[in-house]
Amino acid sequence: MERVQRILTHPQYKKWLAANVAVEENRIFCRHDMAHNLAVARIAYLLWLEQQGEPAAKPLFYGAALLHDIGKWQKEAYPDYGHETLSAALAEEILPQCGFQAEEQSVIIEAILSHSGMDRRQEIAAKEKKTFAEIFYLADKLSRPCWTCAAKEECYWTVKNERLTY
Ligand SMILES: [Fe+2]
Repeated sequence: MERVQRILTHPQYKKWLAANVAVEENRIFCRHDMAHNLAVARIAYLLWLEQQGEPAAKPLFYGAALLHDIGKWQKEAYPDYGHETLSAALAEEILPQCGFQAEEQSVIIEAILSHSGMDRRQEIAAKEKKTFAEIFYLADKLSRPCWTCAAKEECYWTVKNERLTY
């Protein structure tokens, strides 16, 4: 997991993460902080192990999770872009510097670009064999315990996570 450690200690990464924390300081909805990142990484990797039984993808899931929301703080400056696009652009910058190979970078970027939205949740959950990006998408949703959330009624997620698993 040395490459994951390199992301965590990268000066740019730390700066972007702090910027995310700052813009969400008063947010009543889900935050996009390290607790969320780690929850997504752990759930995604568990789902992957259940399906594939293949541990080599661990740094890729952690890499994707650490970076998937990293561009959130730029939303105000770039309102025409989704946070997944902004995050993917920053991830493209940092991944090669942290030792991820071209093919691995593509896998991670695809997962980041396709992790948003709630509309594909049931369709993906029903698939017997899920891709890396699909597992990552599901983990992002499963990481949010909507049923305990005080802001549930005001949340823009039209479909809430009312269950622990699928
Ligand atoms: Fe996100």
